[in-house]
Amino acid sequence: MTRSRAGPIGVFDSGVGGLTVLRALRGVIPAENLIYLGDTARLPYGTKSADTVVRYSLQCADALLQRGVRLLVVACNTASASALDPLRRHHPRLPVIGVIEPGAKAAVAASVSQHIAVIGTEGTIGGGAYQTAIHRLNPAAHVTSLACSLFVAMAEEGWTSGPIAESVARRYLEPIFTTADAPDTLVLGCTHFPLLAAAIRAALPPHVAIVDSAATTAAAVLEELGGAAGPHNGTAVDPDAAAISGTVKWLATDGAARFARVGSAFLGETLHAETVEIIDL
Ligand code: DGL
Repeated sequence: MTRSRAGPIGVFDSGVGGLTVLRALRGVIPAENLIYLGDTARLPYGTKSADTVVRYSLQCADALLQRGVRLLVVACNTASASALDPLRRHHPRLPVIGVIEPGAKAAVAASVSQHIAVIGTEGTIGGGAYQTAIHRLNPAAHVTSLACSLFVAMAEEGWTSGPIAESVARRYLEPIFTTADAPDTLVLGCTHFPLLAAAIRAALPPHVAIVDSAATTAAAVLEELGGAAGPHNGTAVDPDAAAISGTVKWLATDGAARFARVGSAFLGETLHAETVEIIDL
């Protein structure tokens, strides 16, 4: 299939979580047309086997390629962890950017001690993708990983701050961050975790740096498109910094109303169900 240079940029995720990545993308490439696909019929990906996540991801990519995308952003950490290499093998001429490599790069850059903690879904943590990516950059780095599955449901439920969120964050993170040689950097290795950033921050010693893979991925896409990364070095993308003039086409595989309702919190602006096209993969 030929792809015009002016084709849109495709972004997919298991559901609404990737909207945190899309939001960051619009901050750095506001003039680009984007197509977002949320595979809401089959989420979550985070508890599924790698083989299944690869199969679903290839189908998401095909749906976006049929719509002429010229670059593919795998906004889902779980899909990036399992499916990035298969996607690149299947589509050798399509630039494919996942969230793991940019997140690993920002973490290595942010950490003084090179003891880095990564939190994500079971699938992301179990596959060791962040660990591999960090070790590729610094073989001497020490990586502590933890699956924080409850955060996904809490983010979708809107329980992102207050006593429940803070207590769950402490329950997950205190055992890691109260040891003598605790990490000095934490990677939010899941699309949903930026929504819980305040509760997560409250559970950490103040000197710990938080790396958000949405921001780092947006910077990587900008670089792939030939733009200067500028101040968007993985820690400080302002999604509202520029006027937005590109369009976004919304696709989901189920539940336009839920996609719009829950997705609005992830996107940081109101989504309307009637603008969401439901497709079959
Ligand atoms: N989008 C997924 C991720 O970033 C979280 C939700 C899911 O498990 O599908 O890993």
